Amino acid sequence: MSRPDVRTGRGPLTEAELDDWYAVPPDRAAGPWVRGGFITALDGRATGPDGRSGSLNEGSDGDGAAFATLRRWAQAVVVGAGTAREEGYGPLEGSALIVVTRSGDVPAGLAEHPDVHVVSGDGADVTPERVLEVCAGRGWDRVVVEGGPALFGAWVGAGAVDELCVTVRPVLAGGDGPLLLPGAATLPGLTGRLTHLLTWDGDLLLRTRLR
Ligand SMILES: NC(=O)c1ccc[n+]([C@@H]2O[C@H](COP(=O)([O-])OP(=O)(O)OC[C@H]3O[C@@H](n4cnc5c(N)ncnc54)[C@H](OP(=O)(O)O)[C@@H]3O)[C@@H](O)[C@H]2O)c1
Repeated sequence: MSRPDVRTGRGPLTEAELDDWYAVPPDRAAGPWVRGGFITALDGRATGPDGRSGSLNEGSDGDGAAFATLRRWAQAVVVGAGTAREEGYGPLEGSALIVVTRSGDVPAGLAEHPDVHVVSGDGADVTPERVLEVCAGRGWDRVVVEGGPALFGAWVGAGAVDELCVTVRPVLAGGDGPLLLPGAATLPGLTGRLTHLLTWDGDLLLRTRLR
């Protein structure tokens, strides 16, 4: 079976070129387009030695550029409360921030900001559908899930993510940090179809369609 064409190239790219590389495919279905935006080490770890993604992406211009492109595109950025706490998330410039939590434990002051929306399950899981309803109610259909792995696993498991945009850094992180997809995540089989592969200073920037 022949594989569909994969766009390949090399960075650095300009902002306009990146917008083109990360344009939503024309055959997208109606409704929201949901992207996961991540960085991972070769061993699948989503954090570096300090327990944060910052030490993985430090010095990666390609990852910085891809991250900024997704943020520019997004109307809503969704994170789990763990990432909001760990990475010190605050209100974003140009897009809304949605923080998903079971416990309601979100960093002080965050929930009060008009551009931040906390979706709490009051002790239970919050489904992707519920978050997407919040987005639909505000007319947002460009959605980026920035993690962390627990939230991403739930969204991929529910079939709610259209594509994954991931930077693979050719390093081994080791340790016991979370994997990009948590061990408990169950998928129906191998999931994903590569649509672009960009090399940038030795890092790999991939786009893979998940549905
Ligand atoms: N490599 C990357 O690109 C990347 C991206 C993001 C984060 N990270 C790293 O990942 C680490 C955090 O990992 P993590 O998997 O714990 O992050 P996470 O998914 O952001 O946080 C887990 C917490 O988010 C909430 N949550 C997740 N799924 C939920 C659901 N379905 N329903 C309701 N609430 C839900 C819960 O919050 P409550 O505890 O409040 O109930 C849960 O305890 C951090 O060290 C961060 O630096 C890496």
